[in-house]
Amino acid sequence: MQALESPLQRIDVEYEQPACSTRHAWARVPVEPGPAERAALKEKIARLLKEKNAVMVSHYYVHPDLQDLAEATGGLVSDSLEMARFGRDHSAQTLLVSGVRFMGETSKILSPHKRVLMPDLDATCSLDLGCPIEEFAAFCDAHPDRTVVVYANTSAAVKARADWVVTSSCALDIVRALKDAGQKILWAPDKHLGGYIQRETGADMVLWQGSCIVHDEFKAFELQALMAEHPQAAVLVHPESPADVVALAHAVGSTSAILKAAQTMDTNTFIVATDKGMLHKLRTLNPGKTFFEAPTAGNSATCKSCAHCPWMAMNGLADVARALETGVGEVQVDKALGQRACLPIDRMLTFTAALKTGQPTAGLVPHLGAV
Ligand code: 13P
Ligand code: SF4
Repeated sequence: MQALESPLQRIDVEYEQPACSTRHAWARVPVEPGPAERAALKEKIARLLKEKNAVMVSHYYVHPDLQDLAEATGGLVSDSLEMARFGRDHSAQTLLVSGVRFMGETSKILSPHKRVLMPDLDATCSLDLGCPIEEFAAFCDAHPDRTVVVYANTSAAVKARADWVVTSSCALDIVRALKDAGQKILWAPDKHLGGYIQRETGADMVLWQGSCIVHDEFKAFELQALMAEHPQAAVLVHPESPADVVALAHAVGSTSAILKAAQTMDTNTFIVATDKGMLHKLRTLNPGKTFFEAPTAGNSATCKSCAHCPWMAMNGLADVARALETGVGEVQVDKALGQRACLPIDRMLTFTAALKTGQPTAGLVPHLGAV
């Protein structure tokens, strides 16, 4: 039994995040191909994408080759929200999603008639693993008066139990709108992101106790030491990080918000607290600027920054080529489950599209139980 403290109330959650082993994921990380093989694989993937009427959508945390290839072939590298939108709106009938499983599932849910392929279907996420549907459904049943808001990093079944799906780039806006509409929130699964939103909005929230194994490792004490070494540096933090790390940030936000901050803030030096895969895009878009990785461990540790998601690292060129060539790695989502899970995802996409174009969003927040 785990106790949760909130400024508004204390709730007991009868669930504890299981120890999450990454050994199998690291064992499956592909060996880097040599230069000739790498070039041949890239060429092959570009040809297969054309032949199969496919488009490649990559997350910022995957290998730089997969990010660059997505862009070079007319696809997209982005955060999880824009990956979902792009896949839904693109005319290609096959989507090659390089990232983790929930990203492929979200694409399939939004476009059930399309074929969604992933390099490795076992690439998962500690947040998804730490929120099994049975326990989550019981948690929801214990709080029937609350609007259920789940992070996109969840299974299709958890999404299908939700009123809203959010990503880190829109969670604040959506929870604020729900609070303004007088709604109380049940949030899952990331306790750090949930806590951050609670602090920022003052919303009445009960939180599931999940975490991201990558961001959970950032250390405030060591970060302060690095900040002292580079006093001119701005600190950019993903809100899946612990509260004491978030408290040191000059900017907090999703992967795309971090990218935007690096391009617009009035400094040339940054300390970045998110997966190190992000540094590729940060550095290519900002060639004159310096980026340091935020520390994940103290002096006694063998690794000072180990901030890389093992499941994102499972995505490799050879598996992308194999998926396109053979159709292996196709994402399947149960039809009825997908239809139910589509409702809260659609809500998020409608809400964020309205926000982007400056349309009013209040009418897009239905009463609880309206799903
Ligand atoms: P973004 O939505 O910011 O891309 O984050 C997804 C994710 O998995 C972060 O760890
Ligand atoms: Fe999940 Fe963390 Fe990996 Fe993102 S970085 S996919 S939240 S484990």
